[in-house]
Amino acid sequence: MYNYYSDELIEEVRINNDIADVVSEYVKLEKKGKDFFGLCPFHKEKTPSFCVVPGKQIFYCFGCGKGGNVIHFIMNAENLDFIEAIKLLAERARIQLPEGDGSGEQEKAALKREIISINTEAARFYYNNLNSRQGEIALRYLRDRGLSEQTIRRFGIGYSTDEWDLLFKYLVDKGFSEELILKSGLVIPNKKGGYYDRFRERVIFPIFDIRGNVIAFGGRIISRTADKSQPKYVNSPETPVYSKGKNLYALNLAKNSGQNKLLVVEGYMDVISLHQCGIINTVASLGTALTESQGRMLKKYAQEIIISYDADTAGQAATLRGLDILNDIGCNVKVLRIPEGKDPDEFVRKNGPKAMQELIENSITLLEYKAGILKNSIDTGTTEGKINFLNKLSDLLVKVDNNIEREVYIKKLAKEFDVNEEAIYSEIYRKMRPRSSFRKVTAADAKKESKKTEKVEDSGIRHDERMLLALLCTDNSVYKKVRDKLAGLEFTGDENRKIAQIVLARLEDNRGLVAGELLNLLEPGIADEFTRIIQQECNCEDNYKAVLDIIKRMEAFRLSKRQQQILQLLGNKSHLTEGDVEKLKQELNSILLRKKSL
Ligand code: GTP
Ligand code: MN
Repeated sequence: MYNYYSDELIEEVRINNDIADVVSEYVKLEKKGKDFFGLCPFHKEKTPSFCVVPGKQIFYCFGCGKGGNVIHFIMNAENLDFIEAIKLLAERARIQLPEGDGSGEQEKAALKREIISINTEAARFYYNNLNSRQGEIALRYLRDRGLSEQTIRRFGIGYSTDEWDLLFKYLVDKGFSEELILKSGLVIPNKKGGYYDRFRERVIFPIFDIRGNVIAFGGRIISRTADKSQPKYVNSPETPVYSKGKNLYALNLAKNSGQNKLLVVEGYMDVISLHQCGIINTVASLGTALTESQGRMLKKYAQEIIISYDADTAGQAATLRGLDILNDIGCNVKVLRIPEGKDPDEFVRKNGPKAMQELIENSITLLEYKAGILKNSIDTGTTEGKINFLNKLSDLLVKVDNNIEREVYIKKLAKEFDVNEEAIYSEIYRKMRPRSSFRKVTAADAKKESKKTEKVEDSGIRHDERMLLALLCTDNSVYKKVRDKLAGLEFTGDENRKIAQIVLARLEDNRGLVAGELLNLLEPGIADEFTRIIQQECNCEDNYKAVLDIIKRMEAFRLSKRQQQILQLLGNKSHLTEGDVEKLKQELNSILLRKKSL
């Protein structure tokens, strides 16, 4: 399925990265018997349902159903594709991967390195400008905003002069090709076939990746010289080294704060100002709604994510969706409200770091925050409004999956919004009770129902087949004993057929195949399901007997299907010749006999 690296190489990478070692770099694991348990990194939970089974080299979460081998774990934890995960694990195990095998990976990496070196050169250039005579206005501007020399240096803040192509010429002089400079996004082509600088007459904020490479820039207009038609900020475009939703400004610094909380603010100046006064666990999303990939980065470095956005952005649908994304991937999300509609920079400059810390301590949970928005959007002065509010509030509460937590919320919210606790409870129970239906069953319903059963049967057999393949992988020795019976066996659906083909061919060639490796061959969705089977179901006392049972069920399933088909054909005899009818009847007889002998 992934023919970029050879199966053998992928397997070497997998074998050389023990799953318990790798996972424990991300999750605090506790040993119970032979296995390890911990809090699932892929969904929110308070009691561990995530387990790692060293014996099978797999992980599985009973809560969210995610599972797989060490490669899947890295794909999920680091948000990487298969190839990228292999690369990371190969590096970890010091395995040399072949270079330049066709897909241009090597060239891509080289391009990225070159763009980063252009960016680094540009950052130096801007920084030197700021500290030259031409940069005086910009330096004064930053000083007026309270930034110290040390802060300016730490963030590498610079200045682009008002000339059209000063940076471009500088980079050409340094020996970079025009093509490469264009790819860095630092210049824009003009109509005459030349180039001009993207950033002119702006304060420049270099954007760093987690390792401290300069990957992009943001440029702020200097208010004194501000031209109303110009945007306040100009940012680098998407380039081979920068994509907006995948970075967080100042995470390279904030990750070293030694705290388990990260504060997310909107702007460059908010981050810089907070860092200057010692609140260094702060990053910025730079004016966009948070993405899942940013969420994963945040989650990797902190247990609690506190969002502090301007009142008007914070309530926006896109922002709320971003917060839901964080919540869904298991971040503990809190919201910090800054009084008087200030931004964090203004607040901390006026009130000092201590007052800011207090706000951080008093941040509220996402649910409380949403309840507040709800309350503000509904006029609860009327009976109708009250009912509406209660209804929507309980929608929020139904989603809390922990009873104790829900109880605490109900107490708190009932008091805060002056509603009756009982009323909330009864509303919640009403929503949680499954709806029963008293409809009369019609013929159409019955038909639908029988289609459904057919589907259920199919999925049952599909699961049996997967169990069979999983068992063969956990215990290769069974294969020889059932080889003959497997020969004529049919599998259901393209996926199972494909997997069966791979597994059986491997075992037939005596090459062996273990569960962990089987997972390499699967698409992520099926890998989850297979891992669950391997983990939860492949613990039979007698694997041989279990396999035989499944083979029997598979045969019985085929026979029944054929039986049904024949009966249907015979029910409509007018299309058949007498000879056909006779043949079908004979086949039916032999099916019945075979079924009996199973
Ligand atoms: P100051 O006004 O200097 O305090 O900047 P700020 O960092 O407080 O900016 P603000 O709160 O206005 O906006 C938050 C973030 O949104 C900024 O840091 C930018 O990343 C982004 N942003 C704001 N205005 C613009 C704009 O005009 N264009 C673009 N592309 N981004 C912007
Ligand atoms: Mn600001």
